[in-house]
Amino acid sequence: MPGVVVVGLQWGDEGKGKIVDSIAGNFEAVVRFQGGSNAGHTVVVGGQKRVFHLVPSGVLQGKLGVVGNGVVVDPKVLVEELNSLEEAGVRPRLLLSDKAHVTTELHKMQDEAEELGRGGMALGTTRRGIGPTYADKAARIGIRIIDLLHPDSLREKLKGLYSAKDHILRGRGEPPAFESLYGDLVRYGEILRPYVGRAEYTLNRMLSDGSRVLFEGAQGSLLDIDHGTYPYSTSSNTVAAAAAIGSGVPASAISEVIGVAKAYTTRVGGGPFPTEDTGEAGETLRRIGGEYGATTGRPRRCGWFDAVAGRYSVMLNGANYAMIMKLDVLGELNRVKIATAYRIDGATTDEFPSTPEELGGAAPVYEEFDGWRGTDKAVWERAKEEGISALPKSLRNYVGRLEEALGIPVRGLSYGPSREELVYLD
Ligand code: GDP
Ligand code: IMO
Ligand code: MG
Repeated sequence: MPGVVVVGLQWGDEGKGKIVDSIAGNFEAVVRFQGGSNAGHTVVVGGQKRVFHLVPSGVLQGKLGVVGNGVVVDPKVLVEELNSLEEAGVRPRLLLSDKAHVTTELHKMQDEAEELGRGGMALGTTRRGIGPTYADKAARIGIRIIDLLHPDSLREKLKGLYSAKDHILRGRGEPPAFESLYGDLVRYGEILRPYVGRAEYTLNRMLSDGSRVLFEGAQGSLLDIDHGTYPYSTSSNTVAAAAAIGSGVPASAISEVIGVAKAYTTRVGGGPFPTEDTGEAGETLRRIGGEYGATTGRPRRCGWFDAVAGRYSVMLNGANYAMIMKLDVLGELNRVKIATAYRIDGATTDEFPSTPEELGGAAPVYEEFDGWRGTDKAVWERAKEEGISALPKSLRNYVGRLEEALGIPVRGLSYGPSREELVYLD
């Protein structure tokens, strides 16, 4: 059964949206399976930039977009996103799982309040209500998309949610009045009703009929709630295996995993980041790479490629091959580095630690390489025709070392934000 998953191998914003858009033409459906509107996936086509938060990026290629049960859906954001797509002349075919959980204004308030309460230990969340929505799902007090279509039972469930939140939100601002939030949710339910359905049945039917389905990961493997840099993580499982649970297809439906990584590393929010460069190189990457969050506009922390983290992510995801993004940006530097191991407490390791304390104390062991300044678009265009041999030796060395360090082939090199700025390698 041909299901292919695209995942980020780092801390998010690797360029997943661009890769999904680039290959979506080969699939019948594109599925989001976890996360929520904390995601910001950028697609640039014909000079037009579009950022997706909940709608799968594949809809730009006219494919069925599925929002699976594992996603937490802020109906306000989804309706706004659909409206703005329609204004741009894009009428997405969308299927919204009736089992997806709903992020309300209460969850966003709670996210904000909890972040403020953490003081210096703040996680730097996107404040999109993600953690509180997943917490309520696990606590079995959440509201699901199906509930928005049944106003009577929704009223009872929302009452329950208000009483559960009362002690959490007391003294932390004024929650929306019950009737106002209830009315909004019923209204969003009516707008979204035509899209709501049993996504697991549709997807399993498609897979049985031999249709190809693409799963679009959000966040990155190092933000996974179990395997990421907990507690500086998000609140969902972000690794490829989550595609099955988050959409209701069997694990055996996944036949291929594509790992997306930047040629360097970025991170938004708090938490350890061993290869962060707070000096000139990091500043250059941020400036040239436009490293500001697609969802929150926050400056992204920038640093060198971390192959210890990369290998760990390849292992967790079972990535079959990697796509390396933003080689044009890293190419602005004269010398570039890859961390191939960590020194922790005097010992060298190539394993990614389990605690933020240990990771925070890890000193990267770097290998240095010449950069590939002056590699212009014409050179990249030639590489599309002639393959990697058309690229400078320094760049080939760098990519070769990444392949070796990650232990999987690199199948694509991205050199700009646009759909066509991508070289596929055999
Ligand atoms: P996602 O969350 O993984 O989909 O990634 P984001 O969209 O948040 O961040 C990636 C950013 O890099 C977006 O602004 C993309 O348009 C841009 N981008 C993607 N690939 C390249 C590339 O190869 N070169 C450059 N310069 N920008 C790229
Ligand atoms: P995409 O899909 C980068 C980060 C936040 C914060 C942590 C927890 O565009 O790659 P949350 O709001 O999820 O509770 O925040 O996770 N984060 C992301 N960083 N890209 C993302 O998504 C992210 N989604 C969440 O900055 O550190
Ligand atoms: Mg992003």
